[in-house]
Amino acid sequence: MSQDIGFIQREVLKEKPDPASLGFGKYFTDYMLVMDYDVENGWHAARITPYEPITLDPSAMVFHYGQAIFEGLKAYRTADGTIQMFRPEKNMKRLNDSCDRLCIPQIDEGFLLKAIKQLVLTEKDWVPNEAGTSLYVRPFIFSTEPYLGVRPAQQYKLMVILSPSGAYYGDQLSPVKIYVEEEYVRAVIGGVGHVKTAGNYAASLKAQEIAESKGYAQILWLDAKENKYVEEVGSMNIFFKINGEVVTPKLNGSILPGVTRDSVIQLLAYWGVPVREARISIEEVFEAYERGELEEVFGAGTAAVISPVGELNWNGRIITINDNQIGEISQRLYDEMTAIQLGKKEDPFNWTVKIAQVEV
Ligand code: COI
Repeated sequence: MSQDIGFIQREVLKEKPDPASLGFGKYFTDYMLVMDYDVENGWHAARITPYEPITLDPSAMVFHYGQAIFEGLKAYRTADGTIQMFRPEKNMKRLNDSCDRLCIPQIDEGFLLKAIKQLVLTEKDWVPNEAGTSLYVRPFIFSTEPYLGVRPAQQYKLMVILSPSGAYYGDQLSPVKIYVEEEYVRAVIGGVGHVKTAGNYAASLKAQEIAESKGYAQILWLDAKENKYVEEVGSMNIFFKINGEVVTPKLNGSILPGVTRDSVIQLLAYWGVPVREARISIEEVFEAYERGELEEVFGAGTAAVISPVGELNWNGRIITINDNQIGEISQRLYDEMTAIQLGKKEDPFNWTVKIAQVEV
């Protein structure tokens, strides 16, 4: 793999969006990172180029057999002008896990992280610093070989694009309404639910559309075999605080091992709050509610950060959690996590990775 990272300058820089109107994933910066793979050269030709449309052959295998994976991580600007990322090495590792599952050649994680840091450094002026904003980093890989036989492709492209973003669900800390899905499933054990394939998200759209038409923001997926055990939300992992203890579904091969999920578990343990990874059924969640023990429900994800859940609808049984208010633990986790990410608080786990120091 070439260790050089090329650079192609763009002539005219874009106008930056109003930070108040960022939303999620709508704006893209001036540059992107591109790398190619072929059998002769391996991953090669890393370059930072102007953000622009790309051309693909209509027979590019990604269109037909769907070898496409992605990651999501964020860069933050701290008050003293440090640009830093949050646990990026976890995303590099998960990218390779996704590659492995879809027979995409492995990438040098150290080199990719170095190239991403260089891209973020190039775009440091795009890292927003308003409360609740960050520069969302989206690496993705897809097969480009023009061929129609079903087998792993022999040519791929890796790209990294950057998007200055705010909250994923409108107002960050307003509790969201979630629909427990019983008809459709997201993932099966032995399938691809534990990695970040584009197809996982395509498969979720139908149920998502139906839930939205009923006024729900997201789906809570159950296991595909028994339609009983809670898995994840799709855009985030899920946590329940029941009688003082925080429980999250145990990774089982069909749940995405979220970086924020792992950070929440570590933070709670560090604070001495009881936390457990376990197989938990939706029935248990509703029973806890009936007993008055379901104290909080929240999601955790890179895009979603910590997102309180105010309502669950399971087959017409509707429960309102914590009076549709953000709970104490959800608020504390949100505050602590964002304070660490923004360098406002000590980082006892060494989660943040400094990229650059800019003038303030
Ligand atoms: C992320 O949290 O980074 C994700 O990839 C979830 C995506 C659906 C926005």
